[in-house]
Amino acid sequence: MKTQRVLTGITTSGTPHLGNYVGAIRPTVRASRLAEVESFYFLADYHALIKVGEPARVQRSTLEIAATWLACGLDPERVTFYRQSDIPEIPELTWLLTCVTGKGLLNRAHAYKASVDKNTATGEEPDAGVTAGLFMYPVLMAADILMFNAHQVPVGRDQIQHIEMARDIAASFNHLYGEHFTLPEAAIEEHVATLPGLDGRKMSKSYDNTIPLFAPREQLRKLIMGIVTDSRAPGEPKSTEGSALFQLYQAFATPEETMALAKAYADGIAWGDAKLRVFERLDQEIAPMRQVYDELIQDPARIEQILLAGARKARAIATPFTARLREAVGLRRLDSAQAVVRQTKSSKASAPAFKQYRESDGLFYFKLLDAAGQLLLQSKGFASPREAGQAIARLQQLGSGALETLQPQLEPAADSGALAQALAHFQSVEG
Ligand code: TRP
Repeated sequence: MKTQRVLTGITTSGTPHLGNYVGAIRPTVRASRLAEVESFYFLADYHALIKVGEPARVQRSTLEIAATWLACGLDPERVTFYRQSDIPEIPELTWLLTCVTGKGLLNRAHAYKASVDKNTATGEEPDAGVTAGLFMYPVLMAADILMFNAHQVPVGRDQIQHIEMARDIAASFNHLYGEHFTLPEAAIEEHVATLPGLDGRKMSKSYDNTIPLFAPREQLRKLIMGIVTDSRAPGEPKSTEGSALFQLYQAFATPEETMALAKAYADGIAWGDAKLRVFERLDQEIAPMRQVYDELIQDPARIEQILLAGARKARAIATPFTARLREAVGLRRLDSAQAVVRQTKSSKASAPAFKQYRESDGLFYFKLLDAAGQLLLQSKGFASPREAGQAIARLQQLGSGALETLQPQLEPAADSGALAQALAHFQSVEG
């Protein structure tokens, strides 16, 4: 059985909080222990530059996030754990992909569209304050994923569109240059809870309601004591429904423990006592990891070494793969006998060929090249690759006889004699 490659990145723009832990870090570390997966985890620090313009914050966040993953049990021996900016092949691949990505595709990205909509609503220029980095975000992300030919990409729902774009971009490249990339899929954890924050809304940096995962024990206690509750007095039964405190507990406790707290709610536990109970339960899981985290943060040189070792592992894949991609697109040595010989050989030995591809207008095209690579026939745009494929099939079966009916979908041919000869070739091959 072929092992599944799983890959995900974490933007290094903040400090990990409990919501990140429950929603992403904990399930991902668990999944990385499964035997049948080969996992790639990386610190997306190039992505961080899109949002953060403070160098010290990018560096600090990279350190904190790396230490967090290691403290939560990610084993760098088992997985490939690296920092994006240690892999120069990633920005290189970004450019190769940029050249096959429709601008229109990027115009439709949610994050970019949201900025444009906001500007339009406030009467600004549509692109006011939008960097080309934000616009290109999906292409950089596609390069992250496609470089390692990942099958599964565990992400939050807000990232699904980016994975779909990575698929589109991969398909365009494959159409043009051959099958180099696996088409990735988003892996969404259905049963992982979204954690409420201090104010009861979803825990999120943008709401400023987070609890840092590795806050010191005393600070964790204070933060939990500050979670909003209703005003029911001690002794009054309390509702578990809609209780942020209860949801937080549930994300850490066993089903039995959760039932016991539900009973305590019904029996009228005082909010202060309930909060202490939640605090102690969370700290029980967090404390051993916090100790490792604190040690790691004190030893950045060790983390640096771990990341550099990860980058070597990653580049053992990325460097030769990029060399193949460069060759595929024609970035080749001029004195490479192989390239020159192959070209002449193929022009002598090879046959006319149809090439199908997608243009940046989103339509599907084909062209017919003769054995020497000269253009004989160019189609107009088709709405789907299937329609383009059907037209090709008709030409292969009927030869010149198909030209008349297909005429509206074709550009006029320059050399009808050579075209007829090439089409005849297909009929003879088809038998
Ligand atoms: N955009 C992702 C986020 O903000 C982070 C990321 C960057 C990523 N590159 C990736 C996730 C590649 C998965 C795969 O959450």
